[in-house]
Amino acid sequence: MTQALDEIKIGGMGASRKRVEDNRFIRGRGNYTDDIHLPGMLHMEILRSPVAHARITRIDASKAWEIPGVHLVLTGEMMATRNLAWMPTLSYDTQAVLATDKVRFQGQEVACVIADDPYIAKDACEAIDVDYEPLPVVVNPQQAAAADAPVIRDDKENQAGNVIYNWEVGDAEGTDRAFARADLVSRLQLHYPRSHPSPIECCGSIADFNRSTSKLTVYMTTQAPHIIRAAVALVAELPEHMIRIISPDIGGGFGNKVPVYPGYVCSILASILLERPVKWIEDKTGNLISTGFARDVYLDGEMALRRDGKILAVRMRTTADHGAFFADAQPSKFKIGLMHSTFGCYDIPVAHLAARGLYTNKAPGGVAYRCSFRVTEAMFFQERMMHAAANDLGMDQAEFRRVNLVSDEQFPHRTPFGFLLDSGQYGACLDLGLKAVGYEDFLRQKEEARKNGRLLGIGISTMSEPLGAGNSREYDILGIKMFDSAELRVHMTGKALLRTGARGQGQGHETTWGQIVAHELGIPADDVTVEEGDTDTAPFGMGTYASRSTPVAGAAIAMVCRKVRAKARRLAAHLLEVSEEDIEWELGRFYVRSAPDRGVTITECAMAAYSNMPDGMEPGLENNAYYDPPNLTWPFACYIVTVEVDPETGVWDVLNIVAVDDCGVRINPMIVEGQIMGGLTEAFAMSNMQFITFDADGNCVGSNYMDYLIPTAWETPGFELHGEVVTPSPHHPIGAKGVGECAAVGGPAAFVNAVMDALGGTGVRNIDMPLLPDRVWEAITERHDVSGAPPVRTDG
Ligand code: CDP
Repeated sequence: MTQALDEIKIGGMGASRKRVEDNRFIRGRGNYTDDIHLPGMLHMEILRSPVAHARITRIDASKAWEIPGVHLVLTGEMMATRNLAWMPTLSYDTQAVLATDKVRFQGQEVACVIADDPYIAKDACEAIDVDYEPLPVVVNPQQAAAADAPVIRDDKENQAGNVIYNWEVGDAEGTDRAFARADLVSRLQLHYPRSHPSPIECCGSIADFNRSTSKLTVYMTTQAPHIIRAAVALVAELPEHMIRIISPDIGGGFGNKVPVYPGYVCSILASILLERPVKWIEDKTGNLISTGFARDVYLDGEMALRRDGKILAVRMRTTADHGAFFADAQPSKFKIGLMHSTFGCYDIPVAHLAARGLYTNKAPGGVAYRCSFRVTEAMFFQERMMHAAANDLGMDQAEFRRVNLVSDEQFPHRTPFGFLLDSGQYGACLDLGLKAVGYEDFLRQKEEARKNGRLLGIGISTMSEPLGAGNSREYDILGIKMFDSAELRVHMTGKALLRTGARGQGQGHETTWGQIVAHELGIPADDVTVEEGDTDTAPFGMGTYASRSTPVAGAAIAMVCRKVRAKARRLAAHLLEVSEEDIEWELGRFYVRSAPDRGVTITECAMAAYSNMPDGMEPGLENNAYYDPPNLTWPFACYIVTVEVDPETGVWDVLNIVAVDDCGVRINPMIVEGQIMGGLTEAFAMSNMQFITFDADGNCVGSNYMDYLIPTAWETPGFELHGEVVTPSPHHPIGAKGVGECAAVGGPAAFVNAVMDALGGTGVRNIDMPLLPDRVWEAITERHDVSGAPPVRTDG
């Protein structure tokens, strides 16, 4: 007699199954791009610009060509003869592959050398003579917007100044009217500084063009292999079926591995020209100064308030510094990403957001670093404004949020910017967080400590963020709609192969995807092999970023399992000799409704699909599914941080961190907790120590890991995590919402709000991140706000 399976025992939904990929990762057996060695492989190094803005008057590569072991030197001029000096970006702009006319940021790619080994290639790069004629440098968008600012993108026809876009959303007039009725207007100006995703593994590629088959294979560090295939097909004018992109193991992406980089293009061209595999592996400084930076947005925000704490309207003006090329991947319709997801979790009748983006002499910026297209900035601005507004009202921080949070009955809730929030229990999460942190007690301790000159502070950040782009009506990148896919093949012994269009970079897809199959089909997760990242085998997908894997690819997995189950049901009916309508399903088995003891397992159905199918039925048990989500999923989180600030030094220590995350149904609670801990660590780093900026000449300050600090377990505070509140997404087939980036998105404001709370009474409204001791100390002693915007040269 067959029996229903125990879901947890087979590693299904809700099981804290150990990560299968860690078997190879913790034994040093991962297969990263740099681990791949192909016969006859050559190595490429890039010569980068030492200056931020200069005209190139001469490039002499003759000495480099003479070095033994050098096979090819690529310059912009040579690229131009093949129409490859410039390439399209994912945001409808163009980007120089190798500079021809000018360099526009420090670290820009000027030339490449391909040689027998990377050391020869590096030496040869240094032998290339380049004459630069310096130009005035623009390091922040205010300077870029000035009437007399040099035009950075003079390569573009009709580009008069440095403005890339002006974009607005919301109801400007309605917002004005609400402000006219306000009892109080609270205003806050701040800068979310540039930060860098800095994955442990830098970017790299191995291009392998095979002249005899005309097929190009590229192993590369990309989070979106199918998008890269499309881009290569368009840029290199190669037919798509002759391009194979393989993303092997990826050592962290965090958005940094979404854009197309010149190194990829040059290694491809070099392989085509030399007919040998060409490997390019970036070094750490190359990665830090030239590849996708994040953030760098200025906010001027205002909130219209009623005396009782009700928010009547919000008005926001943001200015984004994109660097020299607008190269980040944003959904095409939304120039500043999903910045307008801000204030979604609060019941606010009307709002308006005006955004503008500018070019500066910095590396391209604005990538979604562990972030769903600018939601990190959106939620940071939101929660910093909430903090300032509660203080302006003289209202308790928690109470102010409680008064304005969307209540359970209001779902689905339409935000003032038009998003539809799917579900949530925001009040319950806040209450749980307050209880866990001992809110009232802490407020008392804080008052007591003050009397002794000690500065304690508490910071709250509550937010709901949109995860899982599409739907395809509204979300596309370069016109390619944002959906995702899964393909499932059940072998005759009941073991299975699952492939998706996503590409994990350490999130644990190989573990959790098997759990969805176990949940839907009763095939133990250990019997499912998960493959991603090879465009020749995986179904088309938009890749993994913006925590979209679970909401979109995860849904596609559930849907393909259901298609397979539907066929297995027909096989079961055949085996049990009853009609399909008489068959019931429970985990792992079909049985006859009127005789529950008579059943067949999914494994028996799989065998029958190859050995005993009914007449007329197509053999085999496999299918695929493309999933176009009807809506985004909206997880909710409440982060509460307590700190003590030393008034003598400005050093601040974290006392406690409480995180309450409602990401709907958790596939693997252990992995979810790991994601939250990772996100909180990054949030702590951003707010406390991570400093990468530019001097007035556009030199990148913090371009190495001695200056740009990655927190280790030593510096990272402990976390108290809560997952008791679970509100399934009503439109996701398994009720799951994304979670990977929530803590990195919502966390920073909790840390900063805590320090600002400790500084209460000083009149200081803002210190820009990172809250380095000298900045905090300056704020305490000078009693003024401290800006982190890069300084502008004033001596002409
Ligand atoms: O797109 P990305 O994989 O970065 O983010 P995600 O979809 O939020 O998933 C991160 C990891 O958490 C994956 O291994 C998911 O399967 C897992 N997860 C989960 O177990 N339960 C959820 N409700 C959401 C994510």
